[in-house]
Amino acid sequence: MVLRFEASYPEGLCPGWSVRVKGETGSRTNEFQINFLCGTEDQIAFHFNPRFKDSVIVCNSFLDNQWGQEVLADTFPLEAKQPFQIEISSDEDYFHAFVDDSKVLQYEHRHKQLAAVSRVQILNDIHVSSVELTRRGLY
Ligand code: GAL
Repeated sequence: MVLRFEASYPEGLCPGWSVRVKGETGSRTNEFQINFLCGTEDQIAFHFNPRFKDSVIVCNSFLDNQWGQEVLADTFPLEAKQPFQIEISSDEDYFHAFVDDSKVLQYEHRHKQLAAVSRVQILNDIHVSSVELTRRGLY
């Protein structure tokens, strides 16, 4: 695991925040992940994991020391060595994930204490050029 970015917002990142990541992968890309975590614990409320070898975006949560059921996106609009933008926002019910402004998936909250989701981490095969956090309010 290689940590590329980490930020912590004690007041919480859900609901109503949007995290926009601009980046690029290298040619030997395997996978990268954007994780929304709870406080200092190892609980992952939302794991967004593009896997280039299988051309699939796998999403899941790691709660109570185990992975839950995977949710797969229907599309894989990412290409190695091509710059992209991923935006993940949340409302009271879902995380919403967009790649280059096209929605790829929504993921129902499994960790019900939304206010506890206060950390975002980006890991592995990604060159992050910017991360923008915006408070959007609810929509
Ligand atoms: C596992 C993988 C984890 C995570 C999980 C998601 O196989 O090792 O990193 O991606 O799947 O379900």
